[in-house]
Amino acid sequence: MVGRYFVTTPIYYVNDAPHIGHAYTTLNADALARWHRLCGDEVFFLTGTDEHGLKIQRVAEANGITPIEQADRTSVRFRDAWELLDISNDDFIRTTEPRHRIAVQQLLTAAYDNGYVEKGTYEGDYCVSCEAYYNDDELIDGCCPIHKRPVEHMLEDNYFFKLSAFEDRLLEWLESDPDVIIPEGYRREAIGLVKQGLDDVSMTRSSLDWGVPVPWDDGHVFYVWYDALINYATAVGYGRDPERFAQWWPHTHHVMGKDIIRFHCVYWPAMLLAAGITDLPRYHVHGFLLVGGEKMSKSSLNQIAPADLVADFGVDGFRYAVLRDNSFGPDGDFSYEGLLTRYNSDLANTFGNLLQRVTTVVHKSCGGIGPAPDPHSVLRVKAERAVAESTEAWRRVQPSTALDATIRLVRDTNEYLQETEPWKLEPGIEVDRIMGDALEALRITALLISAAAPGAAQTAWERIGLSGRLDDQRLPAAGVWGGYTGGHEVTKGDPLFPRLKG
Ligand code: MSP
Repeated sequence: MVGRYFVTTPIYYVNDAPHIGHAYTTLNADALARWHRLCGDEVFFLTGTDEHGLKIQRVAEANGITPIEQADRTSVRFRDAWELLDISNDDFIRTTEPRHRIAVQQLLTAAYDNGYVEKGTYEGDYCVSCEAYYNDDELIDGCCPIHKRPVEHMLEDNYFFKLSAFEDRLLEWLESDPDVIIPEGYRREAIGLVKQGLDDVSMTRSSLDWGVPVPWDDGHVFYVWYDALINYATAVGYGRDPERFAQWWPHTHHVMGKDIIRFHCVYWPAMLLAAGITDLPRYHVHGFLLVGGEKMSKSSLNQIAPADLVADFGVDGFRYAVLRDNSFGPDGDFSYEGLLTRYNSDLANTFGNLLQRVTTVVHKSCGGIGPAPDPHSVLRVKAERAVAESTEAWRRVQPSTALDATIRLVRDTNEYLQETEPWKLEPGIEVDRIMGDALEALRITALLISAAAPGAAQTAWERIGLSGRLDDQRLPAAGVWGGYTGGHEVTKGDPLFPRLKG
C-alpha cells in the first residue's frame, strides 16, 4: 500500500567516530528508505547526532576544546561517513540546533502543564558512558553492566517525569499489535520492562549546563535522553509546523539497536503520551554486531572505520555484504572474512558474473542489441517468486532474507544459461529468446537489489540498455515480467564486482 514512511536512525553521540556498529543501523534504515521509495511511498529519512550531556562535556574537556567544538568536529565525521556510504537521508539533525531547542522545550512543557513533571531530589548511581542511572541490583561489582566502568554517585535537585503513571497505557499499546516492535522478542522485552513496574525518573540536571535549558526553572537543563529522543519530532516540524508534524508523525518507524530499548520503547512513548501525542511510533530493533564476541565500541578497541572496508569492497559491495550477512534482529558475528566470502560468492561470482556473461553473448550473437524476453519463459516464475518473496521480507524488515531471494533469481538465471548454453548457438531466434530472458531477469534483479546496492544496480540498468534512473521505477508494476521490451543497446564493461583475494 502506498503511503508515507518516516524512518529514523538513533542520533549518534559525538564523543566517538563512526564505526561499523553505527553504519549497520544506518545502512538498514537507508535500505528501508530506498525500498519504500521504490514502492512509491513518500519517504522522509532522518539521521543525525546527539550532542548534549555529561559524556560530551567530559570528552570535550579531555580534548581541551568546548563542547560545541567537539560536537562540530564529530558531527561532520558522521555526515561524511554517511555520504561515503551513499546514505540517502533527507535530513541530518543536530540536537544543538535552535529548531530542536524549541521542540524540546515545547514538548516537555506540555508534559509539565499536563501534570506529569514534579520536583524532587535524586540520589543514584550514574554511568556517564550510558548517560543512565542504574539500580544497585543492576551493577556488577559496582560497575556499569555494559561499560564495566565504575558508576558515579549523584545527588541533586531534579525534576521527575511521572513514568509510573503510564504503566497501563504502555502495556495496552505494546499488547495491542504484534508489529509495534519487531522482531517479537524485543516487544516481549519491552513488555517485561513495563511489567516489572516503572519508577518515576529524573529528567533534568542542575549540576550541568551542556543541555537544553528547562524553560520553567533557570538553573536546570534537561537530561540528555529527554532532549535526544525528541529529535524525531523536531525533524518533522514539532513546535514549528503542526501541519507537517500531523502528516508525518503517524508514519514513524524507528530503526535502532537493542541497547536502547528502555529509552525508546518505554520512556519515549510515555513522554509522547504525557505531551498529549497519542500516535506512537513503530520500532525495528536489531542486535549487536560482535567482533570476537564483544560489542563493537570505542572501549573494546575493535573499532573498524567504514571507510577502510569501502576501500576494499567498494560502497555497494560493502553495503550488500553487511546487509546480507547479518540477519536483522539477533546478534551477529562480524568479520572481514565473512564479508569477503559473501562479496565473492554473491556479487563477483553471481550477479557480476551474470551481467558479464549476458552482455558478452548479446554482443557476440545479437549484434549488441538486447532482445525481448519470452512471455512464457521458465525464468518468469522464478522472477515472480523473487519479487514476491523479497517484497514480503522487506515488509517484515528482513533485508538479509530479501537479498537472499534476490540472489536466488541470479543463480537460477546462471543455471538457465548453463543448461541452454547460448554461447554455443548460432545467432537466431533461439539465442534471442534466451538472452531476452536473461536480460529481463537482470532488469528485475537490478530493481530488487537497488535498496542494498544502489550504485551497482544503476550501472547494471544502464549496461543492459535501459535509460533513465532506476530510482524512478515503481514496484510492483516495474517488477512484472516483460518490462524489458527489447531493442536496447547493451554495453560491455569492466566487471561490476572484481573478484577479491583473501
Ligand atoms: N545517542 C544515543 C541514541 C539516542 S537516539 C534518540 C546512542 N548513541 S550511540 O552513538 O551510542 O549509538 C547507538 C546506536 O548505534 C545503537 O542503538 C545501535 O543502533 C548502533 N550501534 C552501536 N554499536 C553497535 C554494534 N556493535 N552493533 C550494532 N549496532 C550498534 O545510544
